[in-house]
Amino acid sequence: MLVPSHISLSDTDIELTTAKDHREARLSRGLAPIAAEYDHVIIDCPPILSWITINAFTASDKVLVPVAPGSFELDSTVQIGKTIEEVREYYHEGLRLAGFVFTMSDPTINSRTSLKILRQTYQDQVLRTVIPRNTDSRDAHFNKTDIFSFKPDAKAAIAYGRLIDELYYEESTQ
Ligand SMILES: Nc1ncnc2c1ncn2[C@@H]1O[C@H](COP(=O)(O)OP(=O)(O)OP(=O)(O)O)[C@@H](O)[C@H]1O
Ligand SMILES: [Mg+2]
Repeated sequence: MLVPSHISLSDTDIELTTAKDHREARLSRGLAPIAAEYDHVIIDCPPILSWITINAFTASDKVLVPVAPGSFELDSTVQIGKTIEEVREYYHEGLRLAGFVFTMSDPTINSRTSLKILRQTYQDQVLRTVIPRNTDSRDAHFNKTDIFSFKPDAKAAIAYGRLIDELYYEESTQ
């Protein structure tokens, strides 16, 4: 089941900023009664660290952080790491990092250097699977479908399949 976002969420962050009561836990409280009906709930976060993101982190067991090549992208991992620590400290002690997943990888020096720095910095917290930059992803998006339905043998589909295996495997061995 896919629950899309809604334009009304654009105000939510401002509302939560002034809310007095458990503003970090609205999503986790909303999900709690139905969580057992699902094997996995994947929450896509906005590209800014906001009360919405804090709600997503507070409602989650693990955070998976996609990182694209580039200097700003690498810098942003520091702030995400801090936010995870803060959520652990103040709201949800059990929150864990599922890992950093390097995505939009291509055969450029920039991409290779970015991955090298990411691995040097976060070591085994960087997942082995790398998602390549692949126009099939854009085309799937354009056709309003997922990459597995669009083109199961696309490079990105194969990589995402490996990522799922890696995440499941790590989960079952922990
Ligand atoms: N591996 C890939 N190769 C090529 N294009 C990709 C890949 N992954 C995503 N894209 C394309 O890049 C664009 C942005 O992707 P996506 O929305 O997943 O990024 P995002 O970082 O979550 O963006 P936002 O910050 O807006 O939430 C989309 O057009 C998507 O189809
Ligand atoms: Mg996004």
